[in-house]
Amino acid sequence: MLAQALDTQFALDVRAGLTQPEQKTLPCRYLYDDIGSALFETITLLPEYGLTRADARIIEQHAEDLLDCLPSHLIVAELGSGSGAKTRTILQAVGKRQRALYYPIDVSAAALARCAKELSPMGIVMPLEMSYLDGLRGVAALRAPGQHLLALFLGSTIGNFQPEAAIEFVDSIRQVLAPGDALLLGTDLVKPTAQLLDAYDDPTGVTAAFNLNLLGRINRQLQGDFDLRQFAHVIRYHEEAQRIEMHLRSRVYQIVSIRQADLIVDFAAGETICTEACHKFYREQVETMAGAAGFRLERQWVDEEWGFAENLLVCR
Ligand code: AVI
Repeated sequence: MLAQALDTQFALDVRAGLTQPEQKTLPCRYLYDDIGSALFETITLLPEYGLTRADARIIEQHAEDLLDCLPSHLIVAELGSGSGAKTRTILQAVGKRQRALYYPIDVSAAALARCAKELSPMGIVMPLEMSYLDGLRGVAALRAPGQHLLALFLGSTIGNFQPEAAIEFVDSIRQVLAPGDALLLGTDLVKPTAQLLDAYDDPTGVTAAFNLNLLGRINRQLQGDFDLRQFAHVIRYHEEAQRIEMHLRSRVYQIVSIRQADLIVDFAAGETICTEACHKFYREQVETMAGAAGFRLERQWVDEEWGFAENLLVCR
């Protein structure tokens, strides 16, 4: 999409989110501009945030088992362009059996370029700058007879969907795939509240910067005048809903103008903007979600150190 059209969509979404009558919201996908993506990479290195390392550890330990569960002649498509250790390990394992063919799918050209540079030594990399489902449809349409598709959706990004939307999304993936194709789905598991609060409100303040950068992005791209120092990073855990929420809390009563969204909005002291929800799963909930979306849960590998499950869902 053209940068101008993306900015227009951003402006529309910001306007819609900040004019909600009750809880103001901003869509979490806008956390990832260049600065936000760099901050997220840093989050994955924090001792308090073990999710990404657990995901990588499971794949490192079980890549061969994973391929043993799948038919040969695989092509690999990843929703979100994996750059690092996780995808590399899978492509290496595929490469021992056949020439690895890998389609990273992402809306960010910069992320795709980084990924292609990083992973092209592992096989043929064909980046697709598209939405996840459009890209996956494209890959499915391109496949040769006898080729099976392994889709990767790692890092527990599925947790950033509302539970019903997560099932719908997995179901939409299922509709693109054919019998024998598979989805490798990473899911962060429910864990003690204190551990979750530390992971999303780290003492170094990286997650706070990641969250506040969203207001910085609005200032930069949409000519906003948020004073970032007048907002605080706040984390809430809803135990029953198994959901961590990131908020930005206004420290004072204030009025903010966002020129390109044609918006002047006020914030009461203490009022928050919800910027992200991160759902956590129990192992058996993944099996229920898989079944509801027309998959069979073939294998589930769990990292005991962090509490993360890698799930191999096979098309029925
Ligand atoms: C990308 N996503 C799975 C991360 C998560 O844990 O929900 C995003 C994140 N937000 C704060 N820290 C990390």
